[in-house]
Amino acid sequence: MAQHLYLLCFFFFLSLSLSFNSSISQAVPAIFVFGDSLIDVGNNNHLPLSVAKADFPHNGVDFPGRKPTGRFSNGKNAADFIALKLGLPTSPPYLSVASAPNKTEAFLQGVSFASGGAGILDGTDKLFRQSLTFNKQIEYFTIVQGELVQQLGAQAAQNYLAKSLIVIVIGSNDILGYFSSGSTPPAKSNPQQFVDSLTVSLKDQLKKIYDLGARKFFIAGVAAIGCVPSQINQNKTGGCKEETNYWSGKLNEGVKSLLQGMESELKGMKYSYFDAFGLILQFIQKPSNYD
Ligand SMILES: *[C@@H]1O[C@H](CO)[C@@H](O)[C@H](O)[C@H]1NC(C)=O
Ligand SMILES: *[C@@H]1O[C@H](CO)[C@@H](O)[C@H](O)[C@H]1NC(C)=O
Ligand SMILES: *[C@@H]1O[C@H](CO)[C@@H](O)[C@H](O)[C@H]1NC(C)=O
Repeated sequence: MAQHLYLLCFFFFLSLSLSFNSSISQAVPAIFVFGDSLIDVGNNNHLPLSVAKADFPHNGVDFPGRKPTGRFSNGKNAADFIALKLGLPTSPPYLSVASAPNKTEAFLQGVSFASGGAGILDGTDKLFRQSLTFNKQIEYFTIVQGELVQQLGAQAAQNYLAKSLIVIVIGSNDILGYFSSGSTPPAKSNPQQFVDSLTVSLKDQLKKIYDLGARKFFIAGVAAIGCVPSQINQNKTGGCKEETNYWSGKLNEGVKSLLQGMESELKGMKYSYFDAFGLILQFIQKPSNYD
């Protein structure tokens, strides 16, 4: 059976197009980041079995210091641009600070749980042998929240998290996994059912993060996944794979209506949705030898 490795090695041109709702960006003390390789700043360096890694050149050649950092890009990634925009340092990988003696200070300044290969569904990351699934990332956030409650007290921790920004970039790997050649879709699942299962799961996951005290969300939709190299390879004319793009758009529609619903249901929840679908994507790595 072919080993599929789908590194989403493109990056957003975020700096120009990023616009925060001002009620979201006001007085953010810390950023907590969840997601996949588009926003991973090095958690996978700490996962020995993962095949989704970027701790080697050319990754990082344009980064200050010119060293690979674990970012799946040659320079700064979306996590860096968002932090820059808010005047904060980039939140470090959770796994790089979780066992440090001063971890509580680090947690107070925000951390990143993002991990290359992660998906909304737990099964998605199996493609990469090891990554922090979105559910695992939320489990780690629960640990961080517990530490903050211990350090600050319940009310202050709640206030702190309510002011913090939650950044989420997830879903691309789920779509890519479902539409990859040679993948076996979950039993009895057609694309509509699959996309529905993603939004159902995402709703649960966002609710958990909200219940832990988070209120301000920045969520990026998925790009036109039919235009990544492993999808283009499935189109004889070398164009993008239209079915995959169609369902990428459908997922985004589902996520947008989910967010609208949650904002009206959940007291104090605010969000900015970043539409990544129409963005120009730049591919900097094509691991076709694994495909
Ligand atoms: C934690 O300690 C390390 C090593 O002493 C230091 O480099 C780092 O800046 C500290 N982090 C925080 C958030 O205080
Ligand atoms: C392949 O790409 C062409 C554009 O080059 C497009 O018209 C066609 O629908 C695509 N085929 C599939 C199966 O997505
Ligand atoms: C910002 O979000 C609030 C609700 O969260 C909304 O009422 C307001 O219109 C939004 N402003 C902009 C500029 O999008």
